[in-house]
Amino acid sequence: MNGRRVLLGVCGGIAAYKAAALASRIVQRGADLDVILTAEAQHFIGAATFAALARRRVWTSMWERTEEIPHIALVRAAEVFAIVPATANVIAKLAQGIADDLLTNAALAARIPIVIAPAMNTAMLEHPATVANLRTLEARGVTIVAPESGFLAERETGAGRLAGEDAIMDAIEATLARTRDLAGERVLITAGPTREPIDPVRFLSNASTGTMGIELAREALARGATVDLVLGPTSVVPPSGAQVDRVTTAREMERAALARAPGATIAIATAAVADWRPAETHASKVKKTDDPQSLALERNPDILAALGARKNGTFLVGFAAETDAHEANAREKLVRKHLDAIAVNDVSGERGFGAGDSALTVLWGNGGRRELPSASKRVLAGGLWDTIVTIRRETRA
Ligand SMILES: Cc1cc2nc3c(=O)[nH]c(=O)nc-3n(C[C@H](O)[C@H](O)[C@H](O)COP(=O)(O)O)c2cc1C
Repeated sequence: MNGRRVLLGVCGGIAAYKAAALASRIVQRGADLDVILTAEAQHFIGAATFAALARRRVWTSMWERTEEIPHIALVRAAEVFAIVPATANVIAKLAQGIADDLLTNAALAARIPIVIAPAMNTAMLEHPATVANLRTLEARGVTIVAPESGFLAERETGAGRLAGEDAIMDAIEATLARTRDLAGERVLITAGPTREPIDPVRFLSNASTGTMGIELAREALARGATVDLVLGPTSVVPPSGAQVDRVTTAREMERAALARAPGATIAIATAAVADWRPAETHASKVKKTDDPQSLALERNPDILAALGARKNGTFLVGFAAETDAHEANAREKLVRKHLDAIAVNDVSGERGFGAGDSALTVLWGNGGRRELPSASKRVLAGGLWDTIVTIRRETRA
């Protein structure tokens, strides 16, 4: 943590006093610490305590006159935002995007990772509103340090006690490590469907939205990589830091991907490339009154195989959308296409495509296997990058 920049938000709960011990630990580990207290937190603990520990002013209001706008400046200066303890109230505000004080404005303006450690009475924790709000935040990639069961301020035992200091420190440290573990890497990602025109208004395509590749791009940027994203037609908005090549057909995607590939240290092919295209594209719209036609198809290029055949030191990851015999098919593809890892996505039924939850199984050489359980694609993207970083570290060692 030495030299790293941590922003600590403290909310109005009994456990606010424990945030002082945490602040002390963070400072002792050599980090630079800024602290925001909510108005309610100050009923439980004073700003002077944190000012003395952090050896700098503590932030308690949006309206302090400074040259910079405090909530923007604080999150731009920090590398991680830890909210400890997080009250039911602040959790609800974060889930809804409400920004009515300094802490919630900072959270909404944060492009840095957020770690929250909830603490509250058991009934508040188990209330369906809190359960749903925590699930929403988790799906957006917020790290939640789960509260423990134990003795509560109400003099009863139950769930809702603030997680231990070690667990919170571990979560902050792991998050900080993740912000840099792709520094220096140049990542190439293909994402989205392709469209193969039949005539000027009709095409062959598939249900891919590009969400998985876009989330992988967002996560890679957050971890310090430079990102080239070759993106098929989708309305999902890519992250602003990526270099985006918009393409439509498989052949355009292949051209763009192969042009970017030589500079890539890691390439991930998530795009659902149409396997076939119409042999002929009509220059004008085929009329309803025309005779019924049969559609002759020809095979599209296999972009993943082309990347595998030409790779020169690039760590290449393929995606396999399978509806049955997933692992056997994927292992065969891993070898045949010269991949370093393959992520298997079960797309039987409605699963796999779009913004909903999904699950992945990652396979790599010598029987390597890791399951990433059902979660939002943002969370899965984090898990897949963790896996790729681990495999590369192991194979280099
Ligand atoms: C004595 C006392 C203890 C409280 N402890 C908690 C708590 O542990 N967790 C919690 O979520 N709310 C707790 N509350 C309620 C919060 O203080 C209240 O929701 C407040 O609006 C939170 O403000 P903030 O979220 O902006 O910090 C407590 C209230 C009182 C009066």
